[in-house]
Formats: sequence, structure tokens, C-alpha cells
Amino acid sequence: MRWMWMVALIALMGCKSENKAPAAEGGTAAAPSAEKKLSVGFSQVGAESAWRTAETKSIRGEAEKRGVDLKFADAQGKQAQQIQALTSFIAQKVDFIVLAPVVETGWEVVLRQAKEANIPVILVDRGIKVSDDSLYTTLIASDFVAEGRMAAEWLAKQTNGKANIYELQGSTGAAPAIDRKKGFEEGIQQYPEMKIVKSQSADFTRAKGKEVMEAFIKSDRDQIQAVYAHNDDMALGAIQALDEAGMKPGEQVTVISVDAVKGAFEAMVAGKLNATVECNPLMGPLVFDTINKLRAGEKVEKFIQSKDQLFEKTSAAQVIGSREY
Ligand code: AHR
Repeated sequence: MRWMWMVALIALMGCKSENKAPAAEGGTAAAPSAEKKLSVGFSQVGAESAWRTAETKSIRGEAEKRGVDLKFADAQGKQAQQIQALTSFIAQKVDFIVLAPVVETGWEVVLRQAKEANIPVILVDRGIKVSDDSLYTTLIASDFVAEGRMAAEWLAKQTNGKANIYELQGSTGAAPAIDRKKGFEEGIQQYPEMKIVKSQSADFTRAKGKEVMEAFIKSDRDQIQAVYAHNDDMALGAIQALDEAGMKPGEQVTVISVDAVKGAFEAMVAGKLNATVECNPLMGPLVFDTINKLRAGEKVEKFIQSKDQLFEKTSAAQVIGSREY
């Protein structure tokens, strides 16, 4: 009789160790039981741009395809709302957290709570600044500094290294705004006659892009030779302002931006946007492949980088049909 108890006990211990979660930096994934769906909390910045909407669609669509229980929270551009969402995901004991952080700083406390609860955090599209890198598992994103540099190099070539540039920055404190500015400034450094005359945030939105451009036109109309926008939505707003002021965007004023969304291709086909640097938002498959690797106990890179390229208006008509976002 005693040996039967022993066998039962050993069998039970075996089950327990099979269910043991794989170790992951920034938390340990709790392996869901056979009946329980994998649950993932996704805290999204908001819906400020066409790019953002495409990213949300990609992650939501992939979760649905794979039968993942995705808890989605739109922070409407506010960090406080993202922290609230993360706190709630932790309380709900999700298996993973996916975070697209609105700004770079201020994440230590909530990420420490996630770590203490053994919930790995995967950052998507934007990086953060923390004193302890183990507070997140990996960052899946583009290299924003490289994007800014690519835009600068293209503009230098296009203008023979001479241009009065008006810059539309993304949301203050956000990684893409900081890094795209940095990369662009590095890129124009060797051209003394390329100057950023004015630079202002337009919050990554089309409406603010138009508003800020209108103000630039009002004060500096005759000096504006080029516009560098940190995303396509702001560039499209600026193009509207330039159009309304009769300033011929794409011809009289060279316009370059980042994202490569469908609207940018349409503007390039219409001859009003000169170029756009791609930043791929279709992250769904990569996010859930990474989660699966972590669940299998595999190590993943700390930075999983998407590769981007630049598109010009000359080839836009041939490419537009194949664009997915
Ligand atoms: O973090 C990526 C950036 O955020 C995109 O370039 C921009 O459109 C967005 O809203």
C-alpha cells in the first residue's frame, strides 16, 4: 500500500515540474495549464497615427489567429493610463505583458511589480530608459536613430547639401521623437549649409502637423525649403498647409518623413511628398513567435530589430499596390 502512495507522489511531482515556467529575464512566464488560454496584456500608446492603427491591428489579428486571450488597453497617449493598465494586467495574473511605451522614462516602479509577479514584459516599437535592463525581456522595434540618419542623407543628396529645414517632431519624450531627431542631426552635421531653422512637436498627428506648419509658413514663408517630419501623418498635415498656402509641396518645398504608410504613398504618387523612410508596424507575428520561444525556455535577443528602407516618389506608383499598411 505504501509503495502505491510513493508512485502517486512521484507522478504528481513529475506533473509539477512539467508545468514549471521557463526562466526569462524580466520575469518568469507562468505556463498556462492545458485548458487555460495563454493570456497577454497589451498596453498600446493610442491611435494617433495610421502607423499605430496598423500596429494594433497586426497584434490583435495575430492574437486572434493563435487563440490568445489578448487584453487590450488604449492609453490615449497618457503614461498614467499605461501604468494603470499594467497594474491591472499584473492583478489579473496575465502570462505576458506587451508594452508600446508612450514615453521613455518613468517605468521603473510598475516594471518592478511585473518582475516580482514573474510576468515577462515585451516592449514593442519604442524603447525605454531604465537603470536595470532586466525589467524587460526584449524590445522588438526599428532603429529610430538610423531612420533619422537615412532621412538626412537622402535630403542632403537631394538638395546638394544646402537647405533651410523645418522639422516636425513627434510626441515630446517619446523614443521615436528623440532618436529620429538625433539621427537626423548627426546626418546633416557634415553639411554646414543644411540648417534646421525651426523645430517643434506636432505630437505625431496630422491635425497638429498642419497647425504647426501653418505657423511656420506665417512667420518664415520665404525661407522654407525642406520639411522633415518624424512621421507621415504630420507630413500629410504639413502638405495640406503648404498646398493651401500655394507653396507646392514636393516641388518648391522638399518633404520627407518616416513610416511609409499607404497615405504617404498616395501623397508621393500625387507628387506632394518626396520620400518616406519605412518603419514596419506589422509586429504581430514576431511578438507571438517571441512569446512562444520564451515559453519554450529559449533565450531571445535583447533587441530584435526590424529592417527598414527608404521609398521615393519616383518609384511610389510601382510599389503602392504591394503595401500592406
Ligand atoms: O513609435 C512609432 C511611431 O509612433 C510612428 O512612427 C508614429 O507614426 C507613431 O505614432
